[in-house]
Amino acid sequence: MNRLIINADRKKGRINRNIYGHFAEHLGRCIYEGLWVGEDSPIPNTRGIRNDVVEALRKIKVPVLRWPGGCFADHYHWQDGIGPREKRKKIVNSYWGGVTENNHFGTHEFMDLCAQLNAEPYICGNVGSGTVYEMEQWIEYLTFDGESPMASLRKENGREKPWKLKYFGIGNESWGCGGNMRAEYYADVYRRYQTYVKSYGDNEIFKIASGSHDDDFHWTEVLMERAGQFMDGLSLHYYTVSGECWEKKGSATEFGLEEYFRCLQKALLLDDLITKHSAIMDKYDPEKRVALIVDEWGAWHRVEPGTHPRFLYQQNSLRDALIAGISLNIFNRHCDRVRMANLAQIVNVLQALILTRGEEMILTPTYHVFDLYQVHQDADLLDFQLDCGDYELNGEKIPALNASVSRDETGRVNVTLCNLHATERVDLVGCFNSAELKIERVEGTVITADQVNAHNTFEETNKVKPEVFKDVQLKEAGFAATLPAASVLRLSLICAQQ
Ligand code: AHR
Repeated sequence: MNRLIINADRKKGRINRNIYGHFAEHLGRCIYEGLWVGEDSPIPNTRGIRNDVVEALRKIKVPVLRWPGGCFADHYHWQDGIGPREKRKKIVNSYWGGVTENNHFGTHEFMDLCAQLNAEPYICGNVGSGTVYEMEQWIEYLTFDGESPMASLRKENGREKPWKLKYFGIGNESWGCGGNMRAEYYADVYRRYQTYVKSYGDNEIFKIASGSHDDDFHWTEVLMERAGQFMDGLSLHYYTVSGECWEKKGSATEFGLEEYFRCLQKALLLDDLITKHSAIMDKYDPEKRVALIVDEWGAWHRVEPGTHPRFLYQQNSLRDALIAGISLNIFNRHCDRVRMANLAQIVNVLQALILTRGEEMILTPTYHVFDLYQVHQDADLLDFQLDCGDYELNGEKIPALNASVSRDETGRVNVTLCNLHATERVDLVGCFNSAELKIERVEGTVITADQVNAHNTFEETNKVKPEVFKDVQLKEAGFAATLPAASVLRLSLICAQQ
């Protein structure tokens, strides 16, 4: 019997809404076409930013958006992206396909996008090829409210008042595309650069150091030991790479059960990785002052046939919905340390929420998972015990179910559950640990399909979408539900105190 017991009296922390954050890089068709079409475009836009995409993103309450990269961040010189657009420098985006970047989307446009989305901006500064002075000036340009060279330049460019900017990253993947540094060296570089990232007036900057990836625990250890006191957040990147390895990635839509299983197995690894990175952080920061910021995560498949290999454009199937559901459950459960996460990436790149084709736009299964899970934003994480069987394939096992539980400010308890089993439904009974809480009503929404590789296309836009879930009944002591094979489910429990 699969059983969920919710320990409603044991709050385990607050799920920071920024766990539901996103990432937009100057890469492929993410910024240009995906978000920015320009003021003269026939595609309906507000000051150059496409309305359909903004409207869809507002629905899922994007709390924070990271920009301009990624690897692009350490190539980016922000002064190329300000002033009259026709005069902006055209540069080569050497990391992502060697294409021309016209810099039409720069600081002002990004801050406008965040305002339209009602999202907090998270800017990543250039350490790899930029100077300390350049980074210092960017912060002054963005946030200084007095008389200064950068404040004057900002005003000349049409923005009188400074913006509010909280989150600032000091380099990206400094162990790789951001400068190929060793941890020991970057720790010192970080200490130096962050010195000049100033908090002007009441604009408090939250400084995020470029962190580790996967199981590089040495990086986390060195950064925490040598520079922990100078940071508010330390990042971690983890991608669920399909196929055999990075060089032989699998297709986003053409895969069998074995490949499906392997991908979910990899997604589940994130739990263990976060536990281990957090344990290292605990050694140096037992109070958990420094946040773990998983500012790049998601599925990485082979690009769609016929598309530019460096544009990282991939389809998004029900399997990706499960990867998203599992990962978000993991972040929720680690909310004591994980206080932001940013899916890679928001539109047209990697595990995107939205795909565009000219003026058309489709929502991916991953978008629908973010829609379902938005109830967890800023809610109280509740403790629970989940006993479930395994999903076994070719002698290997993974737990069939994956969950997280929270209570929102209205008292509603939201349970998000993934049934990882590709072909079998799972019966589940659930209850509270306390008889004082009685469930009055239960509402369910589910994302599933007949095939694990089901996906939305421009021809068939709604193959995978949320549906009302009816296979749940209230019982004397709780509820009983039957989860469809390969599904992501949200149950909202509306309770009455007795
Ligand atoms: O998200 C794509 C790339 O993956 C980012 O630019 C980089 O930081 C990571 O390696």
